[in-house]
Amino acid sequence: MGNMGYAMLKGLLKTYAPSDIIFSCATDKKRVAVSDETGVTAALGNAECANNAKYIILAVKPQMYDTVIKNIINVVSANNVIISLSPSHSVEELKEKFDKPVRIVRAMPNTPALLGEAMTGVYYDALEFSFDEKEVLDSFFNSFGTYKIVDEKLMNAVTCASGSSPAYVYMFIEAMADAVVKHGMPRQTAYEFIARTVIGAGKMVLETKEHPGQLKDKVCSPGGTTIAGVAALEEYGFRNAVIKAVDACFDKCDGIK
Ligand SMILES: NC(=O)c1ccc[n+]([C@@H]2O[C@H](COP(=O)([O-])OP(=O)(O)OC[C@H]3O[C@@H](n4cnc5c(N)ncnc54)[C@H](OP(=O)(O)O)[C@@H]3O)[C@@H](O)[C@H]2O)c1
Repeated sequence: MGNMGYAMLKGLLKTYAPSDIIFSCATDKKRVAVSDETGVTAALGNAECANNAKYIILAVKPQMYDTVIKNIINVVSANNVIISLSPSHSVEELKEKFDKPVRIVRAMPNTPALLGEAMTGVYYDALEFSFDEKEVLDSFFNSFGTYKIVDEKLMNAVTCASGSSPAYVYMFIEAMADAVVKHGMPRQTAYEFIARTVIGAGKMVLETKEHPGQLKDKVCSPGGTTIAGVAALEEYGFRNAVIKAVDACFDKCDGIK
């Protein structure tokens, strides 16, 4: 019940009833607070939680996987569907850790799940799951946003593109706000103008299907204000800074264990 688990829970509750869900967490304080807030039952521990669920989401940090797997190993079977959010464990590695027949789904969501606006990359071996289980997985991943099935070798790229990138977008919004506050706009007004612009620009990419470069060109009048800003962004290495950030994120993906 950390940042990602809580965001997914809030999104899930838009589709599922509290009685469909059970969760566990590390501290009593959070267990009581989240259960009181959402009406979802809190198990007393990971084993009790896994024992009462068919679909089990591992929403702890990769470093905690060994501990949590040890907690649940005796109550899970090949009938369970284990959904891992770790960027650092492949399906094969997780199967080895359980050391018994288990079925694993690898998923990389993002925190806009809280509002039902996640973008999630999902990988699983379709041959291991029944039609009904695939229907449940479809409804599950749609309940807190949009999802796409991807090849497992793309999961690190998904971590960069959507798992981690909300942080970069927030930094962009914050930096833009700092800049316009400098020019006199009140901070809250700045956040609204900029965040709505990010939403609108994202929708333009998705809905017009135009190349982002073409959409950019349509904002840039010759000799105008926007192209002056674009030139300054290029001068200060905006595109290169983004590529370096994604490289750093990608390189870290397999290394947290
Ligand atoms: N945050 C994101 O934006 C994001 C996006 C995509 C994927 N993910 C993935 O989601 C997973 C969780 O990340 P997160 O950011 O949500 O981490 P987080 O905020 O640290 O949440 C992890 C939670 O696990 C709890 N925990 C620790 N040990 C536990 C144990 N033995 N049994 C039960 N619960 C335990 C922690 O409790 P305490 O805090 O009390 O220790 C914490 O609430 C990671 O694999 C991460 O890569 C995260």
